[in-house]
Amino acid sequence: MRFGEENFYVDPVTLESLTLSDAVRDGDEIISGTLHSPSGHRFEISDGVPDLIYPFELPAVDREALQQYEERADAYDRYLPLTFSTYGEDEQSVRNAMIDKLDLHPGSVVLETGAGTGRDSEIIARRLGADGKLYVQDLSPSFLAKNIERMRGKGAYLEPALANGYYLPFAENSFDACFHFGGINAFGDIKRAFSEMARVTKPGGKVVVGDESMPPWLRETEFGRILMNSNPEFTYTLPLDKLPIEARKTRLEWIIGGVFYVIDFVVGEGEPAADFDFPIPGVRGGTHRTRFHGQLEGVTPEARRLAYEARAKTGKSMHQWLDDVVRQAAMRDINLKD
Ligand SMILES: C[S@@+](CC[C@H](N)C(=O)[O-])C[C@H]1O[C@@H](n2cnc3c(N)ncnc32)[C@H](O)[C@@H]1O
Repeated sequence: MRFGEENFYVDPVTLESLTLSDAVRDGDEIISGTLHSPSGHRFEISDGVPDLIYPFELPAVDREALQQYEERADAYDRYLPLTFSTYGEDEQSVRNAMIDKLDLHPGSVVLETGAGTGRDSEIIARRLGADGKLYVQDLSPSFLAKNIERMRGKGAYLEPALANGYYLPFAENSFDACFHFGGINAFGDIKRAFSEMARVTKPGGKVVVGDESMPPWLRETEFGRILMNSNPEFTYTLPLDKLPIEARKTRLEWIIGGVFYVIDFVVGEGEPAADFDFPIPGVRGGTHRTRFHGQLEGVTPEARRLAYEARAKTGKSMHQWLDDVVRQAAMRDINLKD
C-alpha cells in the first residue's frame, strides 16, 4: 500500500499533469505534500492519501450523500451482509461473479470507484497478483480509511485516493478495467461517471457497474412495494440512457434477488462503425448514407405520383431515378455540361 505514483494522477477537471511540492516521504511512499496543476488547482496529500475530489464545492446531492456515508461508515460492514442474506444470496459468490466480468488477468491495472470499505477491493486485488495495480477511490474519507485498513498486509499494490466518481483524476486509457458497485444512483452526474470510466479505460478494456433498481415488471408487486418502501434506492431507474457511446457488447444482468442491476461493457472508440455504403437491394435502392444525407424537399402529391410511375417505367430504383433526374436538372439550370 503506497502513494508513490504522483505522476499517474492528473487534475480531475483540466486533465493537466500535476506537480508535487512539500513532499514528506517514507522510503518511496509519499506521506504528505501538495499536488498542483498549471491551472492553479491544489490537491493535498495527507497520511499517504491524496484528496483529488472535484468540484471543490460539491453539488448539494453529493454533499448529502457524503454526509450520510460518513455517518454510516462504522455500521456499514456490520449490516451489509443483510443486503445479500435477505434474498438468500452468498455475498462472496455474487461479488466474485461481478468481478469475473472485469476479465482481469495478473498484471491488470484496475480502478475501483466508490470502493467503500473494500469488500470488492480485496477480491479484485487477489486476482491481480504481484504485477497488478489497484487504484481504490471513494468520496468518503471514513469509508476509504476502512478500505485501507482492510487491505493492509494483503500484499496488494494499492493506490488509495479520495476522488469523485464523476471527475476521475486520470489521463485517458490509464486502466485495463474499471469497477463500481453501489452508490452511483445518487451521483450528481451519473452520465459523466460512465463517460469518465470509458475515458480512463483502454479500448478493449471492461467497465462493470452495479447498483439497486427494482425491475419495472416488479414495481407494482407486493415484493417490489415492500422493498421500495424500506429503501428508496430501489426506486431509481436503470441508467441505460446514461451509458457512453463507447459502450460495446453491453450486457445487463439482474442480481441479488433480481433487484440490483449490473451493467458491463467493453470500451470502444467513438461511435460504433457500420457499412453504410452498400447498395440496398429493392425498389427504393440507395444506401443507408444516401437515405440519411441525401434527403431533399417534399413535392406535390401529383409530382410524387408521376415520379413513381416514371421510375417503374425505367426499371431503375427510386434512388437511381431521382439521382439521375436531379443531376440532369441541376446541370441544366447551372448551365454546365453533363
Ligand atoms: C453503497 S456504498 C458501496 C461500497 C462498496 N462498493 C461495496 O460494495 O460495499 C457506496 C460508496 O460510494 C461512495 N460514493 C458516494 N458518492 C460518491 C461519489 N460521487 N464519488 C465516489 N464515491 C462515492 C460512498 O462513499 C460509498 O463508499
